[in-house]
Amino acid sequence: MKKRILFVDDDPNVLRGLKRMLRSMRHEWDMVFVESGNAALEIMAAHGFDVVLTDMRMPEMNGVELLEEVRTRHPETVRMVLSGYSDPNMILQSVRVAHQYISKPTNPGELKDKISRSFALADLLPDTPLLKMISNLEAVPILPAMYRQVRAELEKEEPAIGRVGGIISRDPAMAAKILQVVNSSFFGTPRHIESPAQAVTFLGLDTIKPLVLTVKAFSKFDPEKIPSRDLEQIQSHSIRTGAVARAIAKAKGLDKGLTDDAFMAGLLHDLGKPVLMDRFQDDYHALLKASRESGCSLYQAENEAFGVCHAKAGAYLLGLWGLPQAIVKVVGFHHAPNQCPCYKATLLPVVHIANALTQAEDCSRIEEGGIPGIDQTYLERIGLKGCLQDWTKICREALDREKG
Ligand SMILES: [Fe+2]
Ligand SMILES: [Fe+2]
Repeated sequence: MKKRILFVDDDPNVLRGLKRMLRSMRHEWDMVFVESGNAALEIMAAHGFDVVLTDMRMPEMNGVELLEEVRTRHPETVRMVLSGYSDPNMILQSVRVAHQYISKPTNPGELKDKISRSFALADLLPDTPLLKMISNLEAVPILPAMYRQVRAELEKEEPAIGRVGGIISRDPAMAAKILQVVNSSFFGTPRHIESPAQAVTFLGLDTIKPLVLTVKAFSKFDPEKIPSRDLEQIQSHSIRTGAVARAIAKAKGLDKGLTDDAFMAGLLHDLGKPVLMDRFQDDYHALLKASRESGCSLYQAENEAFGVCHAKAGAYLLGLWGLPQAIVKVVGFHHAPNQCPCYKATLLPVVHIANALTQAEDCSRIEEGGIPGIDQTYLERIGLKGCLQDWTKICREALDREKG
């Protein structure tokens, strides 16, 4: 079935330009062009759309107001802003409701790529209530203590950007949100993002401050509903996996870009856990506890209980937020690399092994023969079985450095 895309802009010339630009896609996509938010809502009530792209400044209903309505009425639709408007306050407001922001003028390649990528996400997650919930998630909840730390630094008379970056890069949920913002072309994305801390420096305090304090781009967990200990463990495991993935990538001789991506993929690989925790609360806590005690694989238990695992849930959210494809794939298949359509992807074995080794070290299970969670068939298939011993040593050294 053809994918359906709705373009909304009050300037008919812009719509004509878009139509011309995307003419070559007319056999694959059904494209509808309307001149106002009201017209968009009317047509959406009659026909479902996979993606809506809207201008920001329009009379009667602006882009943020339109996307807020779309979020409520059609949560399954991917929401994008396509605008040349440059009021930073309004742009920051759009971070709450838009999954992605594309600056005008744009080129056909960028536009086709961003739209096509959002279609590919449907393969990750079946159309369930969870998909709608993830699509409407403004932020992945974080530990109240981390939230207080970042707020306290930003509320100082002279906040230190380095300190803010340091706090944010130790929390996968905050890091993911910052990477979503820095990937929106409004801010002139740098060619390569080294780390969440560098993304914070790139955006600068003028953006980060209102983003956290006014727009409330980060949201904190309610400790009444969810035990902080669960989240603390996920956070610390994620930081450690990031460090191990970076060390393995370095030892493998990968270039700096890939080594940086290995760290970020490691840091973000379990982002789906707090997402599921937020949604299933007590049930998820019980699942975590049972998996810890029995040593059984959590992702399989999640699949059985909720019909989806944290790997797919996290990858879906990161893809929706426009994070680089390489990272989204690694996150989505870190437990089942053999199922990845591009199973040879350089970073997938790195994070798959870094995750299993970190987990095994945390539970002191390495010595008991074999490492749980490593897909041996996969390693054999890609010719990396012989590396495991060296990588285990690298993992231990990296974890010692993290402790130190
Ligand atoms: Fe995982
Ligand atoms: Fe993990």
